[in-house]
Amino acid sequence: MRQLIAGNWKMNGSRAEADTIVRSLLPYSAGLGCDLLLCPPATLISAVADLLRGTAIGVGGQDCHTMLCGAHTGDISAAMLRDAGATWVILGHSERRADHDETDALVLAKVRTSTTAGLRPIVCVGETEAQRLAGAQNAVVGAQLAGSLPDDFTGVIAYEPVWAIGTGRTPTEGDVADMHAFIRAELVHRFGLGGGAIPVLYGGSVKASNAAALLALPDVGGALVGGASLKAEEFLGIARAAFAA
Ligand code: PGA
Repeated sequence: MRQLIAGNWKMNGSRAEADTIVRSLLPYSAGLGCDLLLCPPATLISAVADLLRGTAIGVGGQDCHTMLCGAHTGDISAAMLRDAGATWVILGHSERRADHDETDALVLAKVRTSTTAGLRPIVCVGETEAQRLAGAQNAVVGAQLAGSLPDDFTGVIAYEPVWAIGTGRTPTEGDVADMHAFIRAELVHRFGLGGGAIPVLYGGSVKASNAAALLALPDVGGALVGGASLKAEEFLGIARAAFAA
């Protein structure tokens, strides 16, 4: 299966910066042996989608509301993301779970709505450092998967240990492999054969220098990249590692 390398720009990026990053990626996009996805802030989705039209690089949002429209000041719906040119959306990122008290039940509702609107969700799961130190990582991630995914789930999972996000720290390769094997087993248990085909990305301080080792691990189907996706060269370096994996 082709790996998916998804860039999560978070709350970063001006129109000029987006233009620079996208134009730097374009010459290489067709020749990469992986799928590329850019998830800019909502204000830049239209502009990035326009630049990427006709290319192999996808565009996604970073969150959406549970409703498709209505009186929800400041929120953005899955239908609006789709209308702006997105075909993917990141849901349940740990920063949203922490900053906006998002629960598994809320993430589940967003997954359902996003699918209805024609978006493919990337559902994020991952334990905090305290939970890992307590040996609770499987229980935490297992509960997030059980609570956040609908029975007809057609998206992608991203395993992102909270303590590895934006810190420069990554779990050992053994720990990543163990967690991806656990997630795979949970998905197969719940979805049968289909669960074997759901891509599971790794996220948390992925950069060009560690991507090859992480992407080569069994059941790692790609990467969700934060900081390193804001530098085109670094992001391309990760994509090239995916090609080699
Ligand atoms: P990072 O972020 O690559 O900057 O650690 C990953 C993420 O939050 O998706």
